[in-house]
Amino acid sequence: MALVRVALDARSYDILIEQGALDRAGEILRGYARKGRLVVVTDAHVARAQLPRLEASLRAANVAVEPIILPPGEQTKSWRHLEELLDALLALEIERGDHIIALGGGVIGDLVGFAASILKRGCHFIQVPTTLLAQVDSSVGGKTAINAKAGKNLIGAFYQPALVLIDPSTLDSLPPRETRAGYAEVVKYGLIDDPAFFDWCEANAGALLAGDPDARTKAIEKSVQAKAAIVADDERETSGRRALLNLGHTFGHALEADTGFSDTLLHGEGVAAGMALAFRYSARLGLCSAEDAARVTAHLKAVGLPHDLATAHVKADGPALVGHMLHDKKMAAGTLPFLLARGIGQTFLSKDVVLDDVAAFLDEERAQTGA
Ligand SMILES: NC(=O)c1ccc[n+]([C@@H]2O[C@H](COP(=O)([O-])OP(=O)(O)OC[C@H]3O[C@@H](n4cnc5c(N)ncnc54)[C@H](O)[C@@H]3O)[C@@H](O)[C@H]2O)c1
Ligand SMILES: [Zn+2]
Repeated sequence: MALVRVALDARSYDILIEQGALDRAGEILRGYARKGRLVVVTDAHVARAQLPRLEASLRAANVAVEPIILPPGEQTKSWRHLEELLDALLALEIERGDHIIALGGGVIGDLVGFAASILKRGCHFIQVPTTLLAQVDSSVGGKTAINAKAGKNLIGAFYQPALVLIDPSTLDSLPPRETRAGYAEVVKYGLIDDPAFFDWCEANAGALLAGDPDARTKAIEKSVQAKAAIVADDERETSGRRALLNLGHTFGHALEADTGFSDTLLHGEGVAAGMALAFRYSARLGLCSAEDAARVTAHLKAVGLPHDLATAHVKADGPALVGHMLHDKKMAAGTLPFLLARGIGQTFLSKDVVLDDVAAFLDEERAQTGA
């Protein structure tokens, strides 16, 4: 079993990664049960595919399971479902000392984490992430939220889990497109500050996406190590270090907005295209070599991820996309803080990106790829 520690003083916790961990969950989680019982919150897809494994293992360890099953999808990160979840938890007489299990992707993790942060002024929760995105990103770091009418993730809290238990074999039931989208966040860690890990990604993405347990475990371990180090350094995104995790996300957010935050472009797919755009824009500014930008694009293309406006199914022109970027960001005199790169593994936050220039770049991209 691989173990990564998130060092946050009194809020420190472990991330355990092991192929087949769900079948050993009874042993691992037994100590968190109170009165011989654990509440497991999940969504209907995960309830069908993975909950039986967790239940069987907990029952074998004499732990009774109280499942709460919510509808799948982003719409579940809403006031309505938060209220429904809190009422269900209260009906089960959850106490502050209890540990609620969040079994699912980022939607369940974000919702359950936020519910735990406010239920009886805070009870414990444990992340058992079942999508690659959640295993390498959202289950670690304590950002919890629901969506508001005004935008995504606008209502939430920093609230760390007590434990993160990752079983890469849960990805066996995840649609391959979801795994590929989550893989974009894996590549991101190499591009931020670890060029050797990007090399590893180029060599091992095929095995990882084909379901090789060792490749998956290694990718998850490297990713959570990177995220844990950044979170330990800048838990609440105040020093700017945690902002590096948003590489590709400003462009990506604009692409997601243009495609209506729909199945046309999954979050990780938007991030993939966004990272390719960030590298090509960095090359256009003369910050990064054209070779590095081409290498990033080629890798994303090779694994079947979107890597330009056409493959992201984006229709809008440059100014409209920049408009999406500005929508929920603070703008200072026509500039926006932007993550750019001096090369693979050399991402930095630039404070003086000129928005008109970004719009012109996106129009050039459109002309080139025929989007
Ligand atoms: N808190 C953070 O730091 C953070 C970081 C990134 C993203 N997020 C949030 O994460 C959410 C996206 O998470 P996601 O991509 O995991 O999506 P998701 O939770 O919606 O899961 C994607 C789909 O896969 C299904 N699924 C999950 N695990 C499965 C499995 N093992 N087998 C079969 N089906 C399975 C789900 O039911 C859903 O239909 C967004 O709301 C985003 O805002 C949060
Ligand atoms: Zn992301």
